[in-house]
Amino acid sequence: MQRILVVDDSELNRELLQDMLKDDYVIEMAEDGKQAIHKLEEYSRETAALLLDLNMPVMDGFSVIAEMRRNGWMKKIPVLIISSEYAAEVESTCFELGVSDFIHRPFEEKIVRNRVRNTIELFACKNQLEEKVEEQEEQIEEQKNIIRQQAEKLREEKSFNKLMLEYSAAIMEVETRLRVLNKEFSQEYNRNPFESIMSRLKSPESIFEKLERRGFPVSVESIRENLTDVAGLRVICSFPDDIYRLAELFTRQDDIILMVEKDYIKNPKTNGYRSLHLILSVPIFLSNEKKYVSVEVQFRTIAMDFWASLEHKLKYKKNIGKTDDIEEQLRNCADSIEELDYQMQEIRNKIDRFRA
Ligand code: GTP
Ligand code: MG
Repeated sequence: MQRILVVDDSELNRELLQDMLKDDYVIEMAEDGKQAIHKLEEYSRETAALLLDLNMPVMDGFSVIAEMRRNGWMKKIPVLIISSEYAAEVESTCFELGVSDFIHRPFEEKIVRNRVRNTIELFACKNQLEEKVEEQEEQIEEQKNIIRQQAEKLREEKSFNKLMLEYSAAIMEVETRLRVLNKEFSQEYNRNPFESIMSRLKSPESIFEKLERRGFPVSVESIRENLTDVAGLRVICSFPDDIYRLAELFTRQDDIILMVEKDYIKNPKTNGYRSLHLILSVPIFLSNEKKYVSVEVQFRTIAMDFWASLEHKLKYKKNIGKTDDIEEQLRNCADSIEELDYQMQEIRNKIDRFRA
């Protein structure tokens, strides 16, 4: 049987509660806070709940709670207040201090037994959940450590750094060529097919994590063979047709090889994501060789980019709970953005015709 500690200076109350609970629990009793703390020191592990009066001689209920907090017992033992105090302020202070529930006088046997049982069960459930979460957090931390260590190892490898140099050369190559096209358009037709370019090299941590996740070996050769997005560029255009024009002009260059095209503008993802993704093989020129390197280029409009960065935030929020309504709202926004993008394009076309 589980053990319950009843702490009250009134003998009558102690006995009443003992009678009500003695069939289900072993009852320990204390006349004041000091005795309660002694009992807890002896039996804190076996105590399933503490029924605690607030006003008592020698040491009152609040001091017991304070001592329990110091010893970490509040996290292990649920406390039910059995005081005659009814002031809302007192109750809310107690809850803030971590008290689980109140049992008001006069004691009703059924209510007392149910409250105590429910509190013990709920508390155990909560503790189990917290333990599970803690365990999971430890596991995640462990995984993160492994990733950090492996990434550190990669960073120290000469061949890895050489590979990263190749990827950054490829980024420079693509970026320069796109800028040349932009400049030519601005000079010839007085318009810029893109607004801005962003680029990033995948970090050793993400490289390792992705190889592991997809079940590929962790080696420089494996990165080259299996990952196509170590070198990444994002090209932000004003209008949808600029995206296709630019992608077409770029992939037409005779030394650029288009490996994969994923058109999430014509075929949006179910969440509403829209962008044109090209996986390209791009030549780079080193001191003694010419090499082809994979690059991922994402083209999107300003509005699609705005959407994608907001949606990306949602993906990385762990504590947000259920997100169905946000997802639905995002899908609707993605559709509105598509309509807006094409309307803006139409307006631009009209203005262009007018100018001609
Ligand atoms: P990754 O493992 O993430 O590289 O995905 P993948 O290899 O299946 O390729 P995909 O073309 O689907 O995605 C490549 C990249 O596009 C991602 O890494 C993101 O940067 C971006 N992306 C793809 N889908 C989404 C999406 O639904 N939302 C946002 N915000 N970005 C996306
Ligand atoms: Mg990727």
